[in-house]
Amino acid sequence: MSDIQVLTEAEIASARHGGKILRACLTMIAALVEPGITTRFLDEKAEEFITSHQGAVPAFKGYQNYPATICASVNEECVHGIPSERVLAEGDIIALDCGVLFDGLYTDACVSVGVGTIRPNAQHLLDVTQHALDAALAIIRKHTKVGDISSTIQTVVESAGFHPVRSLTGHGLGRTLHQFPDIPNLGTPETGAELPVGALIAIEPIVSAGSDEITEGGDGWTLSIRDGSLSAHVEHTVLVHAENCEIIA
Ligand code: MF3
Ligand code: CO
Repeated sequence: MSDIQVLTEAEIASARHGGKILRACLTMIAALVEPGITTRFLDEKAEEFITSHQGAVPAFKGYQNYPATICASVNEECVHGIPSERVLAEGDIIALDCGVLFDGLYTDACVSVGVGTIRPNAQHLLDVTQHALDAALAIIRKHTKVGDISSTIQTVVESAGFHPVRSLTGHGLGRTLHQFPDIPNLGTPETGAELPVGALIAIEPIVSAGSDEITEGGDGWTLSIRDGSLSAHVEHTVLVHAENCEIIA
């Protein structure tokens, strides 16, 4: 598909509803993060929470055979970490990525948080990654181009001496989890597709504190920074309006 899907009012209502559940889910599981818990515990809590809302379904579970409700990516893992018996330790950082499907509409979001007390460089990475996402959202409105979003993220990240992971991108979503357009975390202003009012997009800077080269884990899912540097990931699903964008999740 090479056209950007525009949501109907009914679809917007469904996305808003699913997005609220998703955001509340992430807030809830982020508050549970502490040394000594497992990533599987967070996954169970997320699944319980989502399925306790009528009509809401964990969007990742079963997606291309992905086995869980959340992706829990710890330290050098950048995306798609599968929840497990891994015990979180003081000083770790963890990205909690989750999706909700409600009434045919997908929402997708991620937060990154520290486990207990974290080192200043880890906190700086979390802050810069969040700042990159916030800066990108601030420019999104009707006619914003994909390259404007990409370059905004790149500028914030590289100004801090960090690197966006080139091969991992944000994306359009709606009636599918991933659809046109891809939204890279590096790019050139005033290039790429132009966003129409009513487009639903997931903006997700994925940032390495070191090299941007990644490697795939033996589980077929987990992607990690090859040199072992810390990685952070934050994501919002947003709806494009004429003058700004609305955070849906
Ligand atoms: N936010 C992740 C992404 O856009 C969602 C991964 S879905 C999974 O890639 F099911 F593949 F985990
Ligand atoms: Co996504």
